Amino acid sequence: MADRILNKALKAKVMSAEAAAALIPNGSVIGMSGFTGAGYPKAVPIALAKRALDEKLKGKALKFDVLTGASTGPEQDTMMSMVEASRFRFPYQGDAATREKINAGLIEYQDMHLSHAGTLVRYGFYGKGKNNLDFCLIEVTKINEDGTCVPSSSCGANNVYLEHADKIILEVNSWQDERLEGMHDIISVQAEHGKRTPLPIMAADDRKGSTVWKFDTSKVVAVVESAFPDRNAAFKAPEEMHKRIAGHILDFFDGEVKAGRLSKHLNPLQSGVGNIANAVLVGLNEGPFDRMISYTEVIQDGMLDMLDSGKLVAASATAFSVSPEGQVRFNKSIDRYRKQIILRPQEISNHPEIIRRLGCIAMNGFVEADIYGHVNSTHIAGKGIENGIGGSGDFARNSAYTIFMSPATAKDGKISAIVPFASHIDHTEHDVSGIVTEFGFADLRGRSPKEKAKEIIEKAAAPEYRPILWDYYKRAMKAPSAGLHSPHMFSEAFGFHTRYLQTGSMMPKK
Ligand code: COA
Repeated sequence: MADRILNKALKAKVMSAEAAAALIPNGSVIGMSGFTGAGYPKAVPIALAKRALDEKLKGKALKFDVLTGASTGPEQDTMMSMVEASRFRFPYQGDAATREKINAGLIEYQDMHLSHAGTLVRYGFYGKGKNNLDFCLIEVTKINEDGTCVPSSSCGANNVYLEHADKIILEVNSWQDERLEGMHDIISVQAEHGKRTPLPIMAADDRKGSTVWKFDTSKVVAVVESAFPDRNAAFKAPEEMHKRIAGHILDFFDGEVKAGRLSKHLNPLQSGVGNIANAVLVGLNEGPFDRMISYTEVIQDGMLDMLDSGKLVAASATAFSVSPEGQVRFNKSIDRYRKQIILRPQEISNHPEIIRRLGCIAMNGFVEADIYGHVNSTHIAGKGIENGIGGSGDFARNSAYTIFMSPATAKDGKISAIVPFASHIDHTEHDVSGIVTEFGFADLRGRSPKEKAKEIIEKAAAPEYRPILWDYYKRAMKAPSAGLHSPHMFSEAFGFHTRYLQTGSMMPKK
């Protein structure tokens, strides 16, 4: 590890994770690195969780407000949530233990557009004073002689946290490959509204910033060495249903190329994480389009495949989310990937100005969509929040194409993903171009809400749910509680959800 900490002053601050964790007082606001299980601190959060457990056993509470880039991993979210060491969590999580505590009312959670997180921190909503965070805890790959740091496998909101924390703790992780150096492009959004100038990213693969974190090293109070791997969850091979969803999306692109709205290189691709998104990438890798480019949030295995095959020329993101097998492959060809992959702070990877300039194609998963095209990406009836809006809103609102995809049913057909009225709305009908399930692609462009309803019910809903969706729609047309633009019956709008909670199925008993 000696050669990973080259700055003498910072080398003198090396201490154990326990000693570093002990520096953080109860009640502190901590900005941590980490995005989709990549580049999050591991050693100090474990030590914080142990400290919280010790206090708990003594009948006392130790709690922190935890801000990150997005989701982290077991050493951070799971462990800290299990001992209730997080009082408040922002701006995204994807962890089962954290979800349970949030839905049980034991952790306060602010679910936020990821491009907004930095600006909200700069405005001082999460702490006190100018440097409003008490601490920041950032994983880095290496500390250079001049005190700058080589970022690790995610950028997230680190630039903002390093700038706005009173005190900094660095975790230098030797598991991260040192050859990551040169892959990052760090620029920050200017702080003050009214004084901001256009961002210089004109193409998805533009590099305009620094390759290292630059910050005030006098704020560093501890340096901790670690060697933990990132979370790196495995991907399932695409199932038949995922392939069918991917097939509908590829057919849609084909139609757009034939109509002259897209070239065979498509527009810069944004792809959410998960098995469906990965199946779409697999489909694109085998399909007729070539020399594509990606301006997205996360690099996953499917994108590595596309970079390997040459179908994708470059990929811009803020983090990795690859499988263990993908990680081995990545490290093996890291010198090539360093030229093809650009990692940026999340306020840049998800910035509305750039997404609009590039005309991205956004493809994200949804939980449920209603017959008029409003989309719920986050809330599950009877359970509460699943993950969070993540970057889906940043891309949905600003892309040239906004596509949401999901299986048409969940829980063995007991839940329809198409409902009369979404029980929570993250993306309104005004932002959504298409809703795709294994049954088809509902193209919502150029359609009124009533025309969208016909398209969604006939193309995207599961066939067994179509009759009861039509029944709701037709009766709402006759007795609307909301006028005839988007007709609803308020007394029955959540009838599917109510029936599911009462009987265990959205399908009425015969
Ligand atoms: N009702 C109840 N449960 C539902 C449901 C519905 N309508 N739709 C999905 N679920 C459940 C699934 O059954 C599954 O539960 P399980 O873990 O108990 O099996 C869980 O939700 C996840 O669904 P899955 O089908 O595995 O899809 P996914 O992994 O693709 O996730 C989202 C779908 C919507 C949860 C996910 O895409 C997400 O979190 N999106 C928001 C953030 C985002 O878009 N990020 C990318 C932006 S760059």
